This record gives sequence, C-alpha cells and structure tokens, in this order.
Amino acid sequence: MQSTSEIKSLRGQIKAWRQQGLSIAFVPTMGNLHLGHFSLVEKAKTLADKVVVSIFVNPMQFGANEDLDNYPRTLSEDKNGLAELGTDMVFTPTVESIYPNGLTAQSYVDVPDISLGYCGGKRPGHFKGVATVVTKLFNMVQPDFACFGEKDYQQLQVIRTMVRDLSMPIEIIGIATQREYSGLAMSSRNGYLSDSEKDTAKALYRTLTEAADKLKEGNTDFTLIENQAKATLQKQGLQPDYFAIANNNTLKPATLDDDHFVILAAAFLGSVRLIDNLQVSI
Ligand code: PAJ
Repeated sequence: MQSTSEIKSLRGQIKAWRQQGLSIAFVPTMGNLHLGHFSLVEKAKTLADKVVVSIFVNPMQFGANEDLDNYPRTLSEDKNGLAELGTDMVFTPTVESIYPNGLTAQSYVDVPDISLGYCGGKRPGHFKGVATVVTKLFNMVQPDFACFGEKDYQQLQVIRTMVRDLSMPIEIIGIATQREYSGLAMSSRNGYLSDSEKDTAKALYRTLTEAADKLKEGNTDFTLIENQAKATLQKQGLQPDYFAIANNNTLKPATLDDDHFVILAAAFLGSVRLIDNLQVSI
C-alpha cells in the first residue's frame, strides 16, 4: 500500500493510474477506523481498479466547543487495517496543506436547504466544512466513485446534492450502516462509552426500530411517533437531541404523500452525542 501526505505525490500517482486507463474509487475518512469504515473500503474495491482512502481530521467541520483536539487519532492501526484490506493508496494530508490560508480566508462550498436542520441545525457550519473539504479532496483524488456511509445520512444527502448541483463527474455510493450485535451503529465516538453506557446506547436503534414499525403499521401521526420516541429515549437514560421522521430524499418533514421515509435521531449519553437513522418504505 502506498501512503503519502503530499498533495503533489498523490496527484502524480493519480495521473499515472489515469494514463494506464485505471478507474479510481475514493473513501474519505477522519481515521480511527472501524468495521463501518472498512465496509466502505470493501465496497470501493468492487467498484474500481484502484482504491484511495483519505484520513484527515477536518478542523473546518468542528464547532468551537466540539471535540477536534480530542478526536481519536490512531494512524498506524488505521494504516495496518487498510493495508490488510488491499487499499492501494492512503492519503494523509496536513491541516496546513489543506488550508494554507487558514480556515476563514478561503473559498467554501455551502449546500443550502439540505444542510439545515437535524445535525446542521445543531452544528452550524458543520456541513459547510464537510462539503468544502470533500470538494477539495475530490479535486485532488479525482475519483470515478466515492463511498459514504448511510450512518451519516444527512451528510450523504448533502454530498449527493452538491455533486448534482455542481456537476461533479463522480458517482456517490451510499453504504448500509454497520452495527454492533446489539444494533448500536459503529462509530468512533463509541470508544468514549463504558460497557454500561454501551448497553444504554442500544436504546437509540431500538427506538428507531419501534418508530419504523409504527410507520409500517400505517400510523401517520408523525408528531406523536416522534414525541413518544423522545420520551422513550429519555426513560432509557438518553437525552434526545432530535428525533424526526422525514422524506428520505429531501429530508423535509414527512407528509401524508410520502412513502419513503428516513427516521433521523441524535441523542446525548453524558457528553457523547450519538446519531443513527433508519430508512422505511411503506
Ligand atoms: P468519518 O466519521 O471518519 O466517516 C467516514 C465515512 O465512514 C463516512 O462516510 C461515514 O458515514 C462512514 N461510516 C462511519 N460509521 C459507519 C458505520 N457504522 N457504517 C457505515 N459507514 C460508516 O464522515 C466523515 O468522517 C467526515 O465528515 C468526512 C466525510 C471524511 C469529511 O471530513
């Protein structure tokens, strides 16, 4: 597996592969890789001749009081895992090379509407940071395909919208959420949880499943389902941040005309913010 922090050597390798007529699939990450990330890499391998994974903890998508400095960094384990999977290139740029003029003196990409609400509402500027860094990484890697997890459903929809709006010649592939046996969605943030907190955390997926069952049974009182779910989360020891039934494409609040939904949820367990979602078709 090749590995570089240099934009120039990444571009050199990409150019060489292109000259050989090889296709490229890309998996952007912030590292601290787990089986969820690895499932994206496995999928990427089936899509293209070469797989590039980036590891970059992107300061632009963290709010002032978020966990940027404490974000878990496990580069050598990450590289070992990626090498075992047969990744062709891991790209680990520095903050200075991605943001040579700092975070504010820089052009940005903002995807309206879909970035508002849910995680975007709770984390102002977050999706602007995501869309900007993903655009920059796309411009460096120039992939044919890019893989994103459904675990971060709003992020996936923001990226899909951006690629469509800005005519980026990249196919975005969404990958199903990988879960622990308990149903808990795999996440770098789970590392902050004790065993007993992990036990509490599984209520998030269970509550999503219960809400999904109500939709499948034909219940259309979305607000009632949402409020019941929030009360359930609270009873189980989680502090709900949002719990919302939405159109799975636009992420607008569900209406009686919809038949493809996504239920989006975020909840705090102590200071750890967990997110999860479930798609439902009726
Ligand atoms: P990160 O949180 O490292 O996630 C990288 C990719 O892994 C994302 O597409 C995310 O949705 C996916 N992923 C995480 N947990 C998953 C799970 N349990 N199952 C399936 N996929 C999972 O998301 C980011 O980084 C950043 O915002 C990034 C896109 C790299 C831009 O900085």
